[in-house]
Amino acid sequence: MRLLSARLIVSLIVGVTIVSLCSSSYEVLVQKRGLRRDLERRSEVLADSLARNVERDLEKTGPQTLQQTVQRFANREHLAGLAVYDPQGHIIAVTSDLEPLMANPPAIVSQALHEGHGVDVFQKLGTTSVHIYAQPLHRKDAVIGALAIVHDTGYIKAQSLRIWRETFLSALAHVFLIVLITLLIVRWSIAGPIARMAHWMKALRTGRAGSMRVLIPDLDLFRPLAREVATFAESLSTARSAAEQEARLRVEGQSQWTADRLAMHLRTRLEDGRLFVVSNREPYMHSRRGKSVDLTVPASGVVTALEPVLRACDGTWVAHGSADADLETVDEHDRLRVPPDDPRYTLRRIWLTKEEEEGYYYGFANEGLWPLCHIAHTRPVFRAGDWKSYQAVNRKFANALLEEMADTSKPMVLVQDYHFALLPRMIKQSRPDARVAIFWHIPWPHPEAFRICPWQRELIDGLLGADLIGFHIQSHCTNFLQTVDRSLESRIHWEHFSVQRFDHLTAVRPFPISVEFSEEPVAVPTEPAYMEQSSLLKALGIEAAFMGIGVDRLDYTKGILERFLAIERFLEKYPRYQGAFTFVQIGAPSRTHIKRYHDLQAEVEAEAERINWRFQKDKWKPIALLNRQHNHDEIRPYYRAADLCLVTSLHDGMNLVAKEFLAARHDERGVLILSRFTGASRELRDALQVNPYDIDQTAEAIRAALEMEPEEKQLRMQRMRKVVREHNVYHWAADLITELCEVRLDMPESGRENNRAGVSAA
Ligand code: G6P
Repeated sequence: MRLLSARLIVSLIVGVTIVSLCSSSYEVLVQKRGLRRDLERRSEVLADSLARNVERDLEKTGPQTLQQTVQRFANREHLAGLAVYDPQGHIIAVTSDLEPLMANPPAIVSQALHEGHGVDVFQKLGTTSVHIYAQPLHRKDAVIGALAIVHDTGYIKAQSLRIWRETFLSALAHVFLIVLITLLIVRWSIAGPIARMAHWMKALRTGRAGSMRVLIPDLDLFRPLAREVATFAESLSTARSAAEQEARLRVEGQSQWTADRLAMHLRTRLEDGRLFVVSNREPYMHSRRGKSVDLTVPASGVVTALEPVLRACDGTWVAHGSADADLETVDEHDRLRVPPDDPRYTLRRIWLTKEEEEGYYYGFANEGLWPLCHIAHTRPVFRAGDWKSYQAVNRKFANALLEEMADTSKPMVLVQDYHFALLPRMIKQSRPDARVAIFWHIPWPHPEAFRICPWQRELIDGLLGADLIGFHIQSHCTNFLQTVDRSLESRIHWEHFSVQRFDHLTAVRPFPISVEFSEEPVAVPTEPAYMEQSSLLKALGIEAAFMGIGVDRLDYTKGILERFLAIERFLEKYPRYQGAFTFVQIGAPSRTHIKRYHDLQAEVEAEAERINWRFQKDKWKPIALLNRQHNHDEIRPYYRAADLCLVTSLHDGMNLVAKEFLAARHDERGVLILSRFTGASRELRDALQVNPYDIDQTAEAIRAALEMEPEEKQLRMQRMRKVVREHNVYHWAADLITELCEVRLDMPESGRENNRAGVSAA
């Protein structure tokens, strides 16, 4: 930096000096020309007026009078003197100072006598620089002599020198000021940010950055560069932590799945095959904010799990383009490369009309299938119009997917969720060479419950087009097979959980989804949990000694009202916790276009209000309801600081909040209270499991959690963290895709015969 500054200073001094000198000499030249022109003009005017006097004197009086006239004019500004010559060039009269110099007429006088008009010249007279203007003198038309007016031009030189001196001094001052300002700019806007960037990059390189990973320092002019460096540094730090994690896992002999291991594993499994993912929600959303476009990555476990795979094989993700600036960011084929700052795979967006979205998404998927599959006592609504939309949108997605797969042989397709039950069959019909899996992220209910869907046979037939159907837990697989058994012609192989329908075999398997699990905290907490807890509560205007946390989409399946009732019961039963225990409920508004969800939001607010009104005093209240979307970074501090986390779903496929809470507890404290009606309850045996409908039981679990011995808490937390560590989200993706890779596309002959012979009827 010093060398740079020295070079910069020298270049500036030389550069600015040259420019100043050039402009000064030009200015001096211009000034000089002006002064000369002015002198020429003045001489001409003087010559004109003098000539008349001299001509008169020559005519009427003698040389004596002429000498007096000439002498009279001699003391004008800058005038060196005058001389009068006869037509032969002999001097007649001359001012005293000029006498010795002008005795012999200068050439210009002869020129004037010869040409008959005024002429001038700048020349040296002895050692003096002068300007001579020679004017012929007339009588009638005859030339009777010449008048020479001589000006001393020394003042022009003096003036030019003065201008040179002033310009030089001002150039010096300019150089000094410019160098000073440049040095300050370099220091503040270049050297400072570069030093900060170097410090920040060093911290990243040495792995001491912690939360600096996300905090880009203020880099002023270098902001665009900073963004690139940030992305680069992020990849570097991710690669380093992946390598460290791999090394640690190797040393510990563990087989934990990581994003890199998953990518590597699937690259070898897929060989040159490509993966296609279909989901309703897209992994990157572009939304308009004022004049700019914001990019959002929905906080979804599926995006976390499937991104490394798609990046590894440069796959394609087909999804509904639902955000308001999505259309502006795609190419003419509705595609864009993502992630936008490091493009690795393709996102193909599908556009839906308002009517399609209404019927397929809000109607059939969320007012029909969602309540049908969740036994939460909200009645499913099945409308023929919604069913039509559902079919049409499935077809629309299928067509787009077939278009995307056209150039790929033996593609792998991973369909996500209940929005696309018909898609597997549609794909397989056109592309029997494709391996198709669908993962059903919500529960599959008992056959008796599923029966009420008027189109259950079509849905199941659509699903059975897949080679592999995944659920979170075994009991959902069992429910599904029983539903198939009772509704369609098929043969169920209970011993290896598969369904044979005509000549197609579908495997049905549990793949419990999970979350990312990092050994190091994602952002290093700046204070211990109890202090973090009081600052979080303080920010909400609350003072309390204990804090519970709940994080949910505002959905009737989540048992939020039952949870509030349990908190009320707990405070009633154990009044010593009044003034001491506050429950923070983060509730993200969801599907509010549906009346049931809209009403639920109002009910949840009213219930929190009622309970708060009943108990609150001074700076304490029992429930803090935070009704807005929160991202992972905002939620994590609550997970880390809470004494307990309440998950009271009435029915849930898995529930990732429970696992996120465990993954965030690096301090091995905190207690998980978990509904036994979640998929997660099958794996997380060390949670305090409750029946959320049993208000007293949940209230009792809250007390037990708050009063549990620290050793007991730690033991339970360690065991549950082990489960999540070993069965993280990459494990889920690896299992699912590995299983799909192993699917045999052609059924063995014996299988076909068995199928023909032994199809079981509904
Ligand atoms: C929950 C369910 C998923 C589902 C998602 C859709 O997370 O567990 O199975 O895909 O909601 O949410 P959305 O906001 O897109 O309707």
